[in-house]
Amino acid sequence: MTTALTPIPHVQCSPEEAASTVAREISDLIRARRAAGRGVVLGLATGRTPLGIYAELARLHREERLDFSNVTAFNLDEYLGLRPGHPRSYRRYMREHLFDAIGLLAEQAHIPSSDVAPGQWEAHCREYERLIADAGGIDLQLLGLGRNGHIGFNEPGSERDTRTRVVELARTTREDAAGDFGGVDNVPERAISMGIATILSARRIRLLAFGVGKREIVERTLTSPPSPQLPATFLRGHSDVRLYADAAALGAAGGAR
Ligand code: F6R
Repeated sequence: MTTALTPIPHVQCSPEEAASTVAREISDLIRARRAAGRGVVLGLATGRTPLGIYAELARLHREERLDFSNVTAFNLDEYLGLRPGHPRSYRRYMREHLFDAIGLLAEQAHIPSSDVAPGQWEAHCREYERLIADAGGIDLQLLGLGRNGHIGFNEPGSERDTRTRVVELARTTREDAAGDFGGVDNVPERAISMGIATILSARRIRLLAFGVGKREIVERTLTSPPSPQLPATFLRGHSDVRLYADAAALGAAGGAR
C-alpha cells in the first residue's frame, strides 16, 4: 500500500498554470460524476495558496456553466474561539472567495465550527469525521503548505494516525496570521483541524506551494523521511498525491522528481 520513501511527484509551473490545471481537474471530476449520476466530495483549504484555484472555479461556473450542485465540500480547518461570522473565520473566507461565487449552499459546505464549547470539542470533531465518512470520503483534497511543514493545522508533532481534533497553533502559524488579526496576540491559540490520517484517506491530494518563502520547507518536504516533525512528509507514499510549485518554491528541487 504505502512505502515510506515514495517521493512526492511534483510539477513546476506558475501559480496561474497550477490554478488552471487543478481547477480543470476538479471540473472534469464534477462533470464525469454528474454524467454517472454521482456526487463529488472535495476537501478544501484556505490561505493565500488556493485563491487562484477558487477564482478559476468561479470563472468556470460563470462562463462555462460548471454546476456544483453535486458537490459536497469539507474544509480542512477552522480557528477556534471566534464568534460565528467573524470576518477572519474560515467560513467567512470560503463564502467570500468561493461558495457565494459558485452557488454552493450551506448544507453542501462543511467547516468545523469556530465557537464550540470545550465540553463539546470531542463530539464536534467525531461528528465531522462521521460526516466525511457518510459522504463517502474525500475524492480530492487541496492542501497548502505551512512554513513549518504543517498541512491543515497539523503542526509539527502531529502523528500519522491523527483524525479531526482540537490543535494548538504553532507560534510561526500565529505569526503568519498576525497581519489578518491586527497582531499575533489576537490570533486564536487553537483550531479544529482534520488529522493527518483524515487527509491521507482522500483519494487524490493536490498540494500547492508558491514563492521563495516556501522554498526551504518544500525542499525539506521532498527530501526528508516521513516524520511527525514535518507533517507534510506523511504525504510521501500516498497513491495519488501531486505537488504543484513554482520555480521560486522548488529551487534546487526543480529538476528532480
Ligand atoms: C489552511 C491551512 C493551512 C495553509 C498553510 C499555507 O486551511 O490548512 O495549512 O494551507 O498555512 O497557507 P498560505 O496558503 O496562506 O501560505
